Amino acid sequence: MGKILVTGGAGYVGSHAVRTLNDRKFQTVVIDNLSEGHREAVLGGDFVEGDVADRTTLDRVFSTHEIEAVMHFAARCYVGESVRDPLLYYRSNLADAFPLLEAMLRHQVRRFIFSSSCAVYGVPERVPIREDQAQAPVNPYGLTKHFLERILASLNDSQGMRTVCLRYFNAAGASRDARIGESHDPETHLIPRVLQVASGRQQDISIFGSDYPTPDGTCIRDYVHIEDLAEGHSAALRWLLDGGESEAFNLGSGRGWSVREVVETARQISGHPIPCRQAEPRPGDPPELVADPARAAKQLGWRARRSDLNRIIEDAWRWECNRRY
Ligand code: UFG
Repeated sequence: MGKILVTGGAGYVGSHAVRTLNDRKFQTVVIDNLSEGHREAVLGGDFVEGDVADRTTLDRVFSTHEIEAVMHFAARCYVGESVRDPLLYYRSNLADAFPLLEAMLRHQVRRFIFSSSCAVYGVPERVPIREDQAQAPVNPYGLTKHFLERILASLNDSQGMRTVCLRYFNAAGASRDARIGESHDPETHLIPRVLQVASGRQQDISIFGSDYPTPDGTCIRDYVHIEDLAEGHSAALRWLLDGGESEAFNLGSGRGWSVREVVETARQISGHPIPCRQAEPRPGDPPELVADPARAAKQLGWRARRSDLNRIIEDAWRWECNRRY
């Protein structure tokens, strides 16, 4: 059995996936330029510091290790930033994937697991969202994921590249032993920001928008525990190794929570009042994104077992209080 090449394996989702893969006895090689990731977050396997778009590094990695499959996490992940600086996203998330895919073809590696996103759906026609819903991304971030999914479909047809696109809903939480967790700089995601207020690192939290067509007027998101996401990658890898066809799967819990509900839960868990400020809506934010995760359940046998909001925030809070990086 060869190794699994994990790009961006020092980042938030990638580091949890590496840990789960190693627990399942898969050998991993992480390639990460540490622009966003943390070396301390990679708890096992080989580590190469380098750029995923660098042909020389890629050829060296593919020649030195027998690579069975690639998991591609290396990308930028902020909707708001993508609206302000689209070219950054088209370069990092789209153009920088081409050298990787070309290297895979040169080295005859034809299994690819892609960190896609529910942002591919845009403002969904129906909620919960099924994978076969129309894709109409409303921000450059979602467009980069959508385009790369299309490119992967072409590679499937032309070169036999088998790909699984995992459309994450909102990744959240930390490992249950608080060894690894979310650490972005600057941090813009809701749950870590709320908890930074609770721990005294921030003064208050801005709630973006109060007039959305939702029961309390704030956006609804499907928060999926990072350990569940990691399990989803392991299940997707099994699927490809067992000869599964190219496929896209939603990875979400199937349950949505509003921004206010998240803040209230964080207040209960941390015991801190967490002061809030009402702010303007953030451009590019759809009102409600909730997964229908039935396909992943049926075909991968995957379920979001740890994605109860209390558990997510408890784990994220333990991490916030004991951060290692
Ligand atoms: N929010 C606030 N205040 C904050 C931060 C966020 O009100 O300080 C709101 C946002 O407006 C949004 C919700 O909280 O309604 C969640 O925001 P996040 O920034 O935590 O997450 P997003 O939903 O914007 O984006 C995340 C990932 C993307 C992914 C997307 C899909 O960053 O990679 O989920 O919804 F595509």
